[in-house]
Amino acid sequence: MTDNIYNPEFVKGLFNRMSSSYERMNYITSFGFSIRWRKQFINSIPSTKEKVEVMDLLTGMGENWESVRRKLPNATISALDFSEEMVKSAKLKNEKHFSSSILILQEDILQNTLPSHHYNIVICAFGLKTFNPDQLKILAIETSRILKPGGKFSFVEVSKPESFILKFFYGFYLGNIIPILGRLFQGDPTAYEMLWQYTEKFVNSKQAIEIFKSTGLTANYDSYFFGCASGFSGSK
Ligand SMILES: C[S@@+](CC[C@H](N)C(=O)[O-])C[C@H]1O[C@@H](n2cnc3c(N)ncnc32)[C@H](O)[C@@H]1O
Repeated sequence: MTDNIYNPEFVKGLFNRMSSSYERMNYITSFGFSIRWRKQFINSIPSTKEKVEVMDLLTGMGENWESVRRKLPNATISALDFSEEMVKSAKLKNEKHFSSSILILQEDILQNTLPSHHYNIVICAFGLKTFNPDQLKILAIETSRILKPGGKFSFVEVSKPESFILKFFYGFYLGNIIPILGRLFQGDPTAYEMLWQYTEKFVNSKQAIEIFKSTGLTANYDSYFFGCASGFSGSK
């Protein structure tokens, strides 16, 4: 089971099953902090009115797009995710709120067809935990490959805080309360239990940043709300 949880088909199935309740649960999971963390992690990217190319990796339902639009008003936004159900919702959001201006690609990032040296900015929110170290290495290589020289990137993920008390309460909440809420909202007890299992194994972004640095990218560690989320941002 341990290894299978990183099998892309397993991960895709999980997100397909969670899609109907994902937005609501995302908010509840972090007590609404996910919205704040999303804004903060995008703030690592400098604002510009230039026509930059942005790639939102593991876009889900396009939760980052609003913040990107505000910060980079003339950006061309592309987005990638492999879950059919998440992409379905992302396409609806694109039509309804973004005049279908966002290019949505339904692909596995580990086997993608994205162009090399193309994007000025690559962002990714809450997608690191479902990758094992070998897959993180591919993610890092692919991020480096698709970025233009000088391009910027920022990643964020829910993490285990270092403080014992916070770890206890946040762990109890994510591992016990959230699956119950997940069951109430969508009738699938396993999907949300899995999310905590991923976070338990992921711990924080320290290993991921080292993997990214090992590909030659420059990165700084970012910690959010006493380590309840962590990430890294930098440039190629
Ligand atoms: C936790 S959600 C994050 C969604 C969104 N970025 C957000 O901020 O809420 C993770 C997303 O990554 C996608 N994903 C996971 N592994 C992937 C892969 N190998 N290739 C493409 N998408 C993947 C899932 O389908 C899911 O929509």
